[in-house]
Amino acid sequence: MNVTFEHVDLSYDDKKTILKDLNFTIPDGKLVSLLGPSGGGKTTTLNLISGLLHVTKGQIFFGSKEVTDQSALERKVGMVFQNYALYPHLSVLDNIAFPLKMQKVNKAKRYQIAKKYAHLVHVEDQLTKKPAALSGGQQQRVAIARALAKQPSLLLLDEPLSNLDARLRIEMRQEIKRIQQETGITTIFVTHDQDEALHISDYVMVLNDGRIQQFTQPQDLYDDPKNLFVAKFIGNPVINVLDAADLQASLQKYLPSNFYQQVKAVGVRAEAILPQPPIDCVGQIQAQIDKIEHFGSSVTANISYHQQRLVSTGIPANYQFGKQLVDLYFAKQGTYFFDNDGKRLEVKTHD
Ligand SMILES: Nc1ncnc2c1ncn2[C@@H]1O[C@H](COP(=O)(O)OP(=O)(O)O)[C@@H](O)[C@H]1O
Ligand SMILES: [Mg+2]
Repeated sequence: MNVTFEHVDLSYDDKKTILKDLNFTIPDGKLVSLLGPSGGGKTTTLNLISGLLHVTKGQIFFGSKEVTDQSALERKVGMVFQNYALYPHLSVLDNIAFPLKMQKVNKAKRYQIAKKYAHLVHVEDQLTKKPAALSGGQQQRVAIARALAKQPSLLLLDEPLSNLDARLRIEMRQEIKRIQQETGITTIFVTHDQDEALHISDYVMVLNDGRIQQFTQPQDLYDDPKNLFVAKFIGNPVINVLDAADLQASLQKYLPSNFYQQVKAVGVRAEAILPQPPIDCVGQIQAQIDKIEHFGSSVTANISYHQQRLVSTGIPANYQFGKQLVDLYFAKQGTYFFDNDGKRLEVKTHD
């Protein structure tokens, strides 16, 4: 089932608008992440989808059906939260079967369905245990099975992996992807962790300050950021950002004059700073390479340029470093130009 927002605003107190004119369609059968920093509006958006919250303005559709005024119960969504919220006194089997009991499904039938979902999430050998006897990852599997057992219209997960340790988070995110693909259920997954969102999702919606910054496929966020916020939020190491005022000579050399005058900031990915001019060069600086760090397969050069520290992964481990200034170049792929509002400008370079 696809989910559409049309001109949705949300205010908790009728004074401050938290979500501002959200417009999007989440496609049917896909896994979509809502990604952004804390306070960006992810949970608020998810709660508007579930019906736990209602819009201040605008409309919400499930498929072609308007659900704006429907309650959470009527919308029939399955929800999974960070704190698994299992019933401690019930067995794993009874936890999964619980929503079916509420729907008055008879006992034989609900256990049959619960076992099917226990199998899907790989807890079929834990059915008689109480939640406290399970690991965090297993508890979250049970919570997912419980959400799926009532055959919801959508599966909504709000930071479901935040309470798990790093290794388990990676295992569980792959599990969520597998479960989503096996069931084909439209799934909306909230996270503040870019790595998680980028690995798991068909599409990622980046939210900041109650606005959609970009909504696209994971790799596009990295290759084709629409604004400075997305360029800075996605990618590790964090993109280098230079003030255009600090790059005048380079901008004048590489960009047409009517274009470079609009540029207020330049973002350069670490891999786009190179010691030799690439064919598609769009920038050049004289800087000092302070140090080159080499761990495992990664080589990171720390660079000083006009009081600013830059990071490059495009400089060989054995390259000279020290106090002398060296020429460094920016490759077009990985260098972005932004205007005064942080909006990405389309590159027009001299050919
Ligand atoms: N119940 C609430 N009452 C008032 N303000 C809230 C409430 N819940 C969230 N907010 C505010 O709404 C904004 C978005 O919060 P939220 O959707 O929880 O962000 P996220 O899930 O991305 O961290 C924040 O500024 C937060 O303080
Ligand atoms: Mg939240």
